[in-house]
Amino acid sequence: MDLRDKRIVVAIGGGIAAFKAVEVVRELQRRGATVRVAMTASATRFVGPITLTGLTGTPAVVDLWDPRYAGEVHVELGAWADAVLVAPATMNLLGRAAAGLADDVVLATVACARGPVIFAPAMHTRMWTHPATTHNVERLRAVGAAFVGPVEGPLASGEIGMGRLAEPARIVDAVEAALRPGATDLEGVRLLVSAGPTHEDLDPVRFLGNRSSGKMGFALAERAAARGALVTLVSGPVALTPPAGVTRIEVRSALQMREAIASRADEQDAVVMAAAVADYRPSERAEHKRKKAGEVQLTLVRNPDILLELGERRARLGAHRPVLVGFALETQDLLDNARAKLERKKVDLIVANEAAVGFAGDTNRASLVDAAGATALPAMSKHALADRILDRVRERLGVEAPPERA
Ligand SMILES: Cc1cc2nc3c(=O)[nH]c(=O)nc-3n(C[C@H](O)[C@H](O)[C@H](O)COP(=O)(O)O)c2cc1C
Repeated sequence: MDLRDKRIVVAIGGGIAAFKAVEVVRELQRRGATVRVAMTASATRFVGPITLTGLTGTPAVVDLWDPRYAGEVHVELGAWADAVLVAPATMNLLGRAAAGLADDVVLATVACARGPVIFAPAMHTRMWTHPATTHNVERLRAVGAAFVGPVEGPLASGEIGMGRLAEPARIVDAVEAALRPGATDLEGVRLLVSAGPTHEDLDPVRFLGNRSSGKMGFALAERAAARGALVTLVSGPVALTPPAGVTRIEVRSALQMREAIASRADEQDAVVMAAAVADYRPSERAEHKRKKAGEVQLTLVRNPDILLELGERRARLGAHRPVLVGFALETQDLLDNARAKLERKKVDLIVANEAAVGFAGDTNRASLVDAAGATALPAMSKHALADRILDRVRERLGVEAPPERA
């Protein structure tokens, strides 16, 4: 019930995913929120206002000119709401909002919102990747809007691609996050996040890799950007799209990742190493595809330990920046190994998780280990865990959380 006493306007745009707004409203209510609904004219083609009226117990507002609304409905909804959630946000709606238009009840409510505005876009991949949409998302971000999704998956067209509405629970998580005190508490903090596996080439077609999905690092980048940080995401090969507004640097091997990070570390306030960097690489990479032969012996050589190098360099300089966070993925003796890692690598925080829980899925169970001790966290979404890690980074940076929004 984390949204108890919160008032949320759900503003529905005219996309095929509009029917999922029903589920979003219900999830908001399940977590304690009072919900009112605004809809664009197009949205009413996809889902009936009566459904939303019935669910919320108050009329879904569609028409600015409806004589039943006594007051100034274009101002009133935004002023009433603690947060305005636009779901689904169509390409058209993002464009109109970015341009500062206010020609229907949804846009007037967005314009008059006194609290955070969260957009949950949903559209065909070609609409989402259109330069106009990219530009509009950047403009809205620049004026403080938060984004959740879209995600990759089956689209209404039958194709699979980027542009699907985020899951209702994720959308409501984002509303919760935007309403937390100090939601933009990392404003201006320069943060580098590494993510994904590294691929260590054996020959032009084969490599040694690991099963890291990159989801944890991408969740960290997304949440940090939403909280106002200037994020650089150094990512190994993954099938994920970076969140809007994040600078992405793609690398393949551990050596490339080290170069990408080391050359930028000094300008960062914090570095979070969520990547699963290979400990070893083949001693040589064959120029041509290796031929089949009987038994093959591979010689592996150690890769540099990027986090250790960062920790040692910082200690050598006697500096406190960047704040350094590492991950320890273990199958046994989790906490002992994490404590040892913390000391040996001279870093500020180790996020320790069990290999069985962490990979590929959307949830994680971890302990946060620092010099003061270990805090075991319950299982939670990777985005929620990202927020807990970022809270620690903020504490370490000594950045004060701003006062709660009025
Ligand atoms: C069947 C159908 C499905 C549509 N789905 C989407 C969609 O998922 N995302 C989107 O951005 N536009 C979609 N559109 C186009 C929008 O409805 C159109 O751009 C409209 O003007 C959006 O209005 P609004 O954003 O003001 O609600 C769809 C149109 C039709 C006819």
